Amino acid sequence: MKKVFATILAAALTLGMFGCGSKTASTTGDAGKSGSGDKLIGVAMPTQSLQRWNQDGDNMKKQLEAKGYKVELQFANNEVNTQVQQVQNMITKGCKVLVIAAIDGSALTNVLKTAADNKVKVIAYDRLIMKTPNVDYYASFDNFKVGVTQGQYIETKLGLKDGKGPFNMEVFGGSPDDNNATFFYNGAMSILKPYIDNGKLNVVSGQKDFNTVAIMSWKSETAQARMDNLVTANYAGGKKLDVVLSPNDSLAIGIVASLKNHGYGTADKPYPVLTGQDCDKPNVKAMIAGQQSMSIFKDTRTLASKVVEMVDAILQGKEAPTNDTKTYNNDVKVVPSFLCDPVYADATNYKKILIDSGYYTEADLK
Ligand code: BGC
Repeated sequence: MKKVFATILAAALTLGMFGCGSKTASTTGDAGKSGSGDKLIGVAMPTQSLQRWNQDGDNMKKQLEAKGYKVELQFANNEVNTQVQQVQNMITKGCKVLVIAAIDGSALTNVLKTAADNKVKVIAYDRLIMKTPNVDYYASFDNFKVGVTQGQYIETKLGLKDGKGPFNMEVFGGSPDDNNATFFYNGAMSILKPYIDNGKLNVVSGQKDFNTVAIMSWKSETAQARMDNLVTANYAGGKKLDVVLSPNDSLAIGIVASLKNHGYGTADKPYPVLTGQDCDKPNVKAMIAGQQSMSIFKDTRTLASKVVEMVDAILQGKEAPTNDTKTYNNDVKVVPSFLCDPVYADATNYKKILIDSGYYTEADLK
């Protein structure tokens, strides 16, 4: 019964019910099963420490198994060498396709040479794999648009288009070893930079270029420590902090923890507008509590179903679905990509986006 449900769900997702249309025809249901036999697919995820990767791994496993594949799913505790080892083992075990969310996008060149020598195909999952010819496809959300959406949220919330301001802002960036991080930053800056340039957004610390604001390994603790320093050095005398650009939820959690410790969250000292990404449960709770303003919602079910379509196509010797063949250059070649559409959730729409879609239950957010 479970399997039947999973198959129906996978088919529904493949048909684009969750808003991720495709250019090529999809294979669904029993038709999709033909040929999958007991082929082994390797799924390498970065870490279990963030909610989203657990969900990504679960969705991939469920949806691949519903199509009749066997799945080798591994998490690497954010350790690059562990991930390389895991990918090597997947090749040794005879995986036909590898689906990899890289920890360090540039650290897989050697192991993927072995994959290619063994005729194993490779799909980069969510994060582009850099500096290798041996990556066949990339499936992700539109990472630049993630940043644009965060920037536009800030623009609207503060009324920047109506000429309001100046506002005091601080900027955070994601992990410099993750190719996505600069896309998020550049997307957000494409909206915010004109307001920084005309003085409507004042970065009080002066720290705004990507390398200065980047947080290695997306660590909450590092973001918290940096926010502590920013508040102490720049906002101690009662200067108002209006907005913080955070690229994702793990950083936003650290930023909120710091602000809470510094007495934010009162009538005199309200929380600033604060962005995020992933709609992790603690962050959705923080949105409901008024500590975080928004989070980008990337439906991991949609991404998984797209990757399953890619796996099916590859193993049937067909071209996999793509909708972008220009943007993602990995320093060796442009990797054909399928980019799903991100949307934002906030306190006003989260019920529709997150609960009505079946992603969370009300109880998950209590
Ligand atoms: C993902 C984000 C995630 C971040 C930290 C990025 O590559 O696209 O969704 O928040 O990694 O895990």
